[in-house]
Amino acid sequence: MGSIPRDPAIDGSLALLREGYLFLPRRFERLDTDVLELRLMGLRFIALRGRDAAALFYDPTRFVRRGAVPMAVQRTLLGERGVQTLDGDMHAKRKKMFMSLMSRERIDALMGEMWKQWYAALDRWQQREEIVLLEEAQDVMCRAACAWAGVPLEEREVRLRAEDFGAMVHSFATIGPRHFAGRIARARTERWMGGVIQRIRRGELRPSPTQASYVVASHVDANDRPLDEHEASVELMNVLRPIVAIGTYVAFIGHALHAHPDHRAMLRAPVDETTRAERVEAFVQEVRRFYPFTPFLGARVRESFEWRGYLFPKGRRVLLDVFGTDHDRRLFDDPDAFRPDRFLGWAGGPYDFIPQGGGRYEGGHRCAGEWLTIEAMKVALTFLTRAVELRFAPQDAHIDLSRIPTLPRSGMILTDVRAVA
Ligand code: HEM
Repeated sequence: MGSIPRDPAIDGSLALLREGYLFLPRRFERLDTDVLELRLMGLRFIALRGRDAAALFYDPTRFVRRGAVPMAVQRTLLGERGVQTLDGDMHAKRKKMFMSLMSRERIDALMGEMWKQWYAALDRWQQREEIVLLEEAQDVMCRAACAWAGVPLEEREVRLRAEDFGAMVHSFATIGPRHFAGRIARARTERWMGGVIQRIRRGELRPSPTQASYVVASHVDANDRPLDEHEASVELMNVLRPIVAIGTYVAFIGHALHAHPDHRAMLRAPVDETTRAERVEAFVQEVRRFYPFTPFLGARVRESFEWRGYLFPKGRRVLLDVFGTDHDRRLFDDPDAFRPDRFLGWAGGPYDFIPQGGGRYEGGHRCAGEWLTIEAMKVALTFLTRAVELRFAPQDAHIDLSRIPTLPRSGMILTDVRAVA
C-alpha cells in the first residue's frame, strides 16, 4: 500500500485561516493529487476532492458522521444532536421527517409565501433611497419561512430573528467575536424554538399537520421516542435557519447580476416561457457552483479500508473539498469563469456538482433542502430581473475567499428600486 501524499506543514490551521476556500484546492494542485494527508488543530485528516472522491465520501458503509462535526460548528451552525450528526436507522427516520416537508405542494406553498413577501418588501423599498439586498432577502426568507412552518413571528422581531439565523451561518468556522456572536444567536433562537415546541405540545398553538413546526413537534424517532425539547428545537432550526441562509445566495445572485450586465439583459429580454425557465435555472445553478458557500464536509472512517492503494484507517477524520470539486477543471471547463450556459442541457450525476452535498437524499446526508433552495433562488432571480427596475449603487462588492464563510463586502446595495410599470 502506498503512503498518501502529505502536506509538508506541521499543522495547517493557520494557513486555513489565511487562505480560506483556497486552502485545500491549492494543496491538491501543489501535490497533484485528489487525496492528501494533513494536520489541523493537531488532528490528522485525509482530504479528498473530485467526483470519485465524492462517491467514496457518500458511501455510508465507509464513513460515519458521529464525532465528525467539531464542537465549534455544533455550537453555532448546526446545534447538538441534530440530523447531521446521526447515522444508520436514527438518521434514516430523522431524514424522512425533513424530506416529508419537501413535497411539490409544500415547496409551492413556501414559494407562494416568498412571492408575497418579495412584493411586500418592494412596497417598503419604494419609500427608500437604497437597500442592502442581503438583509432584505434574509428578512423575506425569515417571514416566509415562519409563516410556512407555522411559527409565529411578530413584525418587531423580524430583523432580530433573521439576523440571528444569519449570525449562526456566518460564524461557524470563525474564532473570536464572530464565533461568540454565533453562539449567542444560537442560544437565543433555541429558546425561541423551544417555546414554540412547548406551545404546540400543550395544544396552545395549532399549526396544520403538514407544517414544519407540527411535523417536528410530533416526530417519533427510530427508537420510538419523540424528540426531546432540545432536539426538537435544533431540528426546527434546521428547517428555518437554512431557508434564511438562502439570503446569502440571493446576495450572490445580486453580485452576479452586477458583475455580468450581459446576463442581466438576457434574463430581462422577452423570450418564450420555456427559454426563460431554462435560462433562469442555468443561472441559478451557476451561482450555486461558482460562489463560495460550503467549503468542505467532514466524516470519519467507519472501518479501515483501502482506496486507490491508500489505507483509510478506522476513525480517521476525512474532509471532502466541496468548493474545490465544484471548481474542478476535469468536471467544469474554465471553472473560474461565471458561465451559466454550461448548465443548459447539463447531464451531471449525483457526485460531480455538490454545493449542497452529493449522493442520495434519503439514506444519505445530501442537503434535504436542495430543491427548495433552487426554487427559492429562481423566485428571487425572477423577481429581481422581471418585477423591479433597480440600479446598483457604487459599492465595494468584493468577495474575500480567505474568509469562511464569506459574502460580498457591501451586501449588495441597490438604489432606485421601483416596480416595473
Ligand atoms: C445538509 C448546504 C439549504 C436542510 C446540508 C449539507 C450542505 C448543505 C453542504 C451537508 C451535506 C452533508 O453533510 O453531506 C446548504 C446550502 C443551502 C442549504 C448551501 C442554501 C442556503 C437548506 C434548506 C434546508 C436545508 C433550505 C431545509 C429547509 C438541510 C438538512 C441537512 C442539510 C436537514 C442535513 C441532511 C443530513 O444530514 O442528512 N445542506 N443547504 N438546507 N441541509 Fe442544507
